Amino acid sequence: MSSATPYKVLCVCLGNICRSPTAEVILRHYCDVHQLNVLVDSAGTSNYHPNKAPDPRSQHHAQKRGYDLSALRARQIQLNDFVEFDLILAMDEQNLLDIQALLQRALVEFGHAQVRAQIALMSEHDPYYPQHALPDPYYGGEDGFERVLDQCESSSLAWVNVLKLHMQQRS
Ligand code: 4NP
Repeated sequence: MSSATPYKVLCVCLGNICRSPTAEVILRHYCDVHQLNVLVDSAGTSNYHPNKAPDPRSQHHAQKRGYDLSALRARQIQLNDFVEFDLILAMDEQNLLDIQALLQRALVEFGHAQVRAQIALMSEHDPYYPQHALPDPYYGGEDGFERVLDQCESSSLAWVNVLKLHMQQRS
C-alpha cells in the first residue's frame, strides 16, 4: 500500500550513533519489503556526536545481518522535526521524556496547527518486547548490540503492521 505523500517517521535515541541509526535502517528495510511509502530518518536528543557516522560496533553487528549503516550521519533533533514528521519514536523512556519536553517547546514555537508529530516508544506495539526500552549498548559488550538489532527487527515489524493499517485508512 502506498500513497503519494510519504508518511514520515523519526527514530530518536541519545547519541544518534547506536540505537536510532540501527532502528532507522531496519524500519526502512521492513517498510520497503512491505512496499509502504514511509520515509525514515533518525536523530539524537543530545548533540554529542554531530555529523559522526554510526558507532563502528553498531555498524559491524548490523552488517552481519545485512544492514548497511555506513552512510548515516548523526544529528540532534530540532523543534522543526515536530512539524516535519508524522511519528517520532523514542528508543527509551528518558528519550521519551526529553522528546515530550521538546514537543511543548515546539507547540509554543509553531502552534498546534503546525505540529503534527505523534510520539511513541519504538517498542509500543512489539509483542516480544512490549514497551521495553532499547537498552543503551554504548558502554556495554557485544551482546548489547545484538540485543538492539533483535529489538529493532521485532519492533519494526510490529510498526509495519500498524502503519499498513494507518496508511490504508488514509488512502
Ligand atoms: P545511542 O548510544 O543513544 O544509542 O546513540 C549512545 C551513544 C553515545 C553516548 C551515549 C549513548 N555518549 O555518551 O556519548
